[in-house]
Amino acid sequence: MLRCIECGREYPEDEVRYRCECGGLLEAVIELDNVENVFDGRNVSLWKYRGFIPVERRVSLDEGGTPLYRLENLQKELGMRELYVKNEGANPTGSFKDRGMTVGVSKALELGMDKVICASTGNTSASLAAYAAKAGIKAYVLVPSGKIALGKLAQAIVYGAKVVPVRGNFDDALSVVVKASAELGVYMLNSINPFRLEGQKTIAFEIYDQLGFVPDNIVLPVGNAGNISAIWKGFKELHAAGFIDKLPRMIGIQAEGASPLARAWKGEKEFVPEKNPETIATAIRIGNPANWRKAWMAAEESGGLFESVSDGEILQAQRLLASKEGIFVEPASASSLAGLIKLRKIGILDSDESYVLITTGHGLKDPNIIVENFELPEPIEPTLEAFKGVL
Ligand code: F0G
Repeated sequence: MLRCIECGREYPEDEVRYRCECGGLLEAVIELDNVENVFDGRNVSLWKYRGFIPVERRVSLDEGGTPLYRLENLQKELGMRELYVKNEGANPTGSFKDRGMTVGVSKALELGMDKVICASTGNTSASLAAYAAKAGIKAYVLVPSGKIALGKLAQAIVYGAKVVPVRGNFDDALSVVVKASAELGVYMLNSINPFRLEGQKTIAFEIYDQLGFVPDNIVLPVGNAGNISAIWKGFKELHAAGFIDKLPRMIGIQAEGASPLARAWKGEKEFVPEKNPETIATAIRIGNPANWRKAWMAAEESGGLFESVSDGEILQAQRLLASKEGIFVEPASASSLAGLIKLRKIGILDSDESYVLITTGHGLKDPNIIVENFELPEPIEPTLEAFKGVL
């Protein structure tokens, strides 16, 4: 059953529907009475939690089961007791979107849909393209022209999606996709589709399964605001099922030039979309997050918050994570560490608490951002003498 988060109206799950008649966002209601307690720390992978996932079909590339690292070096440097990263770049197409797509594309097949569509800043398009290929159905992906990282574009192309650049930003592309899905009978797999979030909520399950406890805080990047909503739903379900007795704070980080949630949170508490979002973290270059209501509720209910970070802070954090911990993530993902560092500086964070940063996408998605800012030295002659000369 799907339920509107605004008015509570319910809809059957075998109907293609993305929003309530009142315009509100929908969420899947999961029957938790008989769900099995599988949280034994072993064989962690997305479909281990199938009791919580409302689809029967399974289009899978073996997603989830991503590593959870203790950041030994950085936690010392930042003076924190317990700092972890959940590295979602280790998913099949290199981002957390695969969790949403294994469930979303499975749902598309259950509904009898043979065409799927999304708007994307890159990762969603790569992921949808891969899962549609696996399912043998057609994918259409609309991307902001010139504002998608090279690796992601290459993925969407090679997986065989119809790639459509749009003159405009992500929000413009999404508005076309919403109309297309209503009029052309293609199934929309952006994160306003509640089944996408049913896959992504498994990040919460894996964190609990891998740690064996619930961390005090989850820190993650926010773009269209689906993931923060999904992870919060996952923790709430664990709680409702009686498997955990505490909940983490949800801390959402946006890029300064695309930070309507952080601005509203810190200011008038009134959400105003950003008309011209801009940031080097192209994955989260979004001015009008479609799931902002769910995300707001997640921060509010959990006692969390929203913060924003500058492009400079993001790039610094990206370097830091790679050079101190050996984890290379794309800029949007590094905003979680950048946010943590900023909040620590401001003095808002308690260094005795535990923190899990979510890094959402692999660094190789966007190699240009590194190479463009680095000048390689002149080549040397192939002799030991020449090599000694540069040491
Ligand atoms: N990090 C990365 C690497 C992303 O690709 C995205 C979203 C986010 C964070 C933010 O997640 O939207 O759930 O708040 N990328 C989408 C896309 C918009 O099209 O790939 P969110």
